[in-house]
Parts: sequence; C-alpha cells; structure tokens
Amino acid sequence: MKKDFVAISDYSPTDIQEMLDLAVKLKAEYFAGGNKPILAGQVMAMIFQKPSLRTRVSFDMAMRHLGGDALYLSPSEIGLGQRESIADVSRVMSGYVQIIMARVFDHQHVVDLARYSSVPVINGLSDYNHPCQGMADALTIQEKFGNLKGLNVTFIGDGNNVAVSLMHVCSLLGANFTIASPSGYELKTAPVDLAKSFSEKSGARISLLSNPADAVKDAHVIYTDTWTSMGQEAESKTRESLFANFQVNEKLVSLARKDAIVMHCLPAHRGQEITDEVADGPHSVLFPQAHNRLHAQKAIIVKMLEK
Ligand code: CP
Ligand code: NVA
Repeated sequence: MKKDFVAISDYSPTDIQEMLDLAVKLKAEYFAGGNKPILAGQVMAMIFQKPSLRTRVSFDMAMRHLGGDALYLSPSEIGLGQRESIADVSRVMSGYVQIIMARVFDHQHVVDLARYSSVPVINGLSDYNHPCQGMADALTIQEKFGNLKGLNVTFIGDGNNVAVSLMHVCSLLGANFTIASPSGYELKTAPVDLAKSFSEKSGARISLLSNPADAVKDAHVIYTDTWTSMGQEAESKTRESLFANFQVNEKLVSLARKDAIVMHCLPAHRGQEITDEVADGPHSVLFPQAHNRLHAQKAIIVKMLEK
C-alpha cells in the first residue's frame, strides 16, 4: 500500500476496504475500553495553512488514543514554501517525527511534501481534494447501508475538494455518484475522467447534472458542503446568489428515498447550503459523520506507519 495518503484515487478498492475494515475494528476497540498503544513513541507533525476544528482535533486524538503524540504547527509558524522551501521543510521534519499531516492551499504543496519526505505524509485537505473526509464519509455510509456497492450518492453544490474525494471513493467502491452544480462550478474534467475509469471496473455510474431535484431522485445519500471554500472568500457574495437554488432543505430531501441520509463535511453554513430543519432532522448523520473522522483516520495512520 502506498505510504503517502495524498489522494483516495492512489489506492485500490481492496486497499480502501482494508482501511475501512481496520477503522471499524479500531472504533469497536475504542468503545470497548480504549485502543491499544500500538503507536507508542510515534509523533505526528500537523502542518496547517488554513483553519480547522475536526481535522486538527481528530488527528491529535487519534494519535493520543493509539499511544502516540501530535504536534500542531499553525499557519504562521513554518511559512511553508515562503520562509523555507517545501523540500527543505520535508527533509528537516523527516528527522524529527514519524509521520506528517498537512492542510494546504495548493494541492501541489502536499504532493511535494510527500515527494521529499522520508516519512509518510497525509493530506488533511487541499484545494483539489479531502481524502480523509472521503474515508470518514465511506465509513459513515457503510455503517448505515452495509456497503457502498449499488448505492446512489448525490452531492448538491460546488464541484469542490470534498466532492472530488467523495466521487473517487464512490466510484472505486461501486456507488453511483451524481452531482448537481450551478453552471461554471462543476467538477473539473480530470477528476471526473479518473472516476469514470474506476467505474468501468466497479460498475458505478457517474452523472453530472444541474438540477438538484433530478439529482436526488432515488438517492440513498444526499451530501452538501459550503458554497465558498477556504481561500475563495472574495467570491462569497457572487456564490451566494448563484448557489441559492442548491440548498438542501426539507423539500429537496422529500424527493429522495425515504431512508436517505443527509451528510455534510462541516463546518455548515446553516440557512445557506443546508437548513436547520435538515441538519438537525431525522435524516441527518452530520455528527456521527464528523465523529467518524477520528476512527477513519486512526486506520489511515496505522496503515501508513505499517512496515
Ligand atoms: N470537515 C473538516 O475537515 O473540518 P475542519 O475544517 O474543521 O477540519
Ligand atoms: N470545501 C471546504 C471544506 C472544509 C472542510 C473548504 O475547502 O473550505
């Protein structure tokens, strides 16, 4: 298995299922009295170029639960690529810690960190994707429906980083992936082509639509995310008007399957991409989904550190 977790698309369906199975095992062990200290003496450096609640706290707790430790490096601290080249940061850190997690603006920066580091690198979100989120999402869907094969997963909104990782995990594991986005905010061609190549083997369908009502028909999963991602704040007013019809509200949810679940990677902008009624309603799995970041990431860390 590749030892840098930069994209879900770098892994085979077997690798992904192996990580999900381990996540299930570690989650059960944690709730049965605590994890064994299998990472004693191992330290993760967590480099953040952007804010975070879930990623920061869940990675830190994952390391502690497994007997290891984590070191938080804030956006102002190391000046990735500014104070010092990414290659040099990677080479220096490789001598201090056993694993690195990084949240970056430019995806190439996490690719470069991985390239020059001699210890595993985990992508904690870039402008291209959010693979740890994708793994927690797959774990959450699997818990609800058994497995992903043949399910209909619909994403409403921006063809963003979260949508890319969700599409890739779905297409690898055989779930049909549909997205409805406003014109100009669709998923880019390259990640869609990659998903289509995975679907040829898994039998999944990829559908790119523009009408949310059409997209949620028969959906087992309705997923949404912010209209304005970190780094795009200057566009937020324009986006608010263009995305106004891409809200996950009770009316939209009523068009999906009766047993549909509603997902959101969080943070949510209640009243924009999702209403309070849906976020706090009977279909919502928002908080178990957020909690699954902890369990999915434990499995990713253990697999990346496995010799
Ligand atoms: N979903 C997610 O990655 O949340 P944070 O930005 O709070 O880490
Ligand atoms: N698409 C969002 C996800 C936040 C976890 C962003 O990049 O800001």
